[in-house]
This record gives sequence, structure tokens and C-alpha cells, in this order.
Amino acid sequence: MDATSVLKALWLFLPAYVANMSPVFTAKLLPKWSHPIDGGRMADDGERLLGDGKTWRGLVGGGFAGGWTAVFMALAAPYFPGGLVAGWDFGKAGHCVGQAIGSACPPTDGVGSMSFQMESVGWIAIFLFGFIVGFFALAGDAIESYVKRRTGRKRGAPWFPFDQLDFVVFGLIGMVLASFLLPAGWVTAALLHDWIILTTILVLTPGLHLLINRIGYWLKLKEVPW
Ligand code: CTP
Ligand code: MG
Repeated sequence: MDATSVLKALWLFLPAYVANMSPVFTAKLLPKWSHPIDGGRMADDGERLLGDGKTWRGLVGGGFAGGWTAVFMALAAPYFPGGLVAGWDFGKAGHCVGQAIGSACPPTDGVGSMSFQMESVGWIAIFLFGFIVGFFALAGDAIESYVKRRTGRKRGAPWFPFDQLDFVVFGLIGMVLASFLLPAGWVTAALLHDWIILTTILVLTPGLHLLINRIGYWLKLKEVPW
């Protein structure tokens, strides 16, 4: 167990957090690009498939937000105070396959029975990784809206804890599916660093989400406090 794992978990999931917050800003930036994903279509129950709150702008913008966040993180990780997230750079500076994040490759035993390999990755791969994570996070948000509409919840109605966790589950799925873009084993080593990583992402996120949305409401960025 590592006392800094909570911070590492929040850091690792930053592309999904930023992506999930981004639609409010892209909506302000590009107010005219409000084409809904469902194209205005209705389901048999007479309600919208997803609703006007789920736009292509939000979905694709979330991908870009996740992509740029991942690039920024790969740049910033070496300079983080105290070296607390050293190596948590999506493998930019190199990852020793099969080893913990941030550790150097152990010396080989000379007999050839053990060999370790350092792998690193380019900026485009890191951007694409973040893009997929952000896109999946907001696809999860849209799927949640589908279920909300089918269960009679109007646009903007709160639905705890699904409003808070939709993007988490799909962000994690995106991370696993996009793991082929990063050095072999990097995503597994990050998510399974210790049990705190996944626990933090799943348990702390709903509270953080509620807090940040309330701040967004006070700042008049959001129309509802949840
Ligand atoms: N948004 C968007 N496109 C998306 C997701 C969100 O444009 N794919 C914008 C919308 O302006 C939306 C706001 O971000 O109103 C907040 O998102 P969210 O709370 O998820 O949507 P709701 O309006 O609450 O709708 P729902 O009840 O379907 O969750
Ligand atoms: Mg909502």
C-alpha cells in the first residue's frame, strides 16, 4: 500500500475528469454547434432518445479535452512537486514492461533467463489514448441519459449515483481498450498499482463530482447544483 496512491489515482483519471467537465465550457464556446446526438428522435415511449443535453459537440469536445489533458500530464509528470507522480506519464519517458510504474528495468541475470525491456511512446499515441478515454467517458454519460429518459427522468433531473458514476465506468473501459496505444503493460501496472487506485476512482469520484458541480453552479457555469 502506498500513501500517495489516492493522488496517483486522481492524476491517472484526470483525462476522464476534465472530459466530463468540458461540455459546459464547449457549450459556452460554441453555442451554435448544439446538434443533438439523437437528432431530435423520439423513442416509443414519447420521450426523446437522449435529449437536447447530449450534443455531438459535447461528445467530440470531451475527446479533445481528454487528449490534451493526457498530453499535458505527460509533460508535467516529471515536474510534479516531490516527484509524487514520477513515471505516471503514460509511458512518455519509458516504461519497463512488467515492472511497477516509474521503476527502472532491473539488471538482467546474465544467463538470459530474465530480460526486461524499456518501452516508450510518442505524443500522438498519448493524445489518442486521452481522446478515447474522454470520448468513452462522455459516451457513458450519453448512455446514462438514454436510461434516464426511458425511466421518465427529464433532462437535468438528478439521478444519484448514476450521474456521478456513468463517466467513471466508461472512462475505465476506454482506458483498457486504448491501452494498446501505450507501452505494453502500462495501463495494467497503473490500474493495479495497488487496491487504492481503483477504489479511489470508484468511491471518491461521486463526492468530488457533487462538489465540483456545486462550485460550477455557484460560478453560474451550471444551471443545476448537481
Ligand atoms: N453537454 C453537451 N453534450 C454532451 C454532454 C453534455 O452539450 N454530450 C452539455 C449540455 O449543455 C448539458 C450540460 O453539458 O446540459 C450538462 O451535462 P449533463 O448534466 O450531463 O446533462 P443534462 O442537461 O443534465 O441532461 P441529462 O438529464 O440527460 O443528464
Ligand atoms: Mg445531468
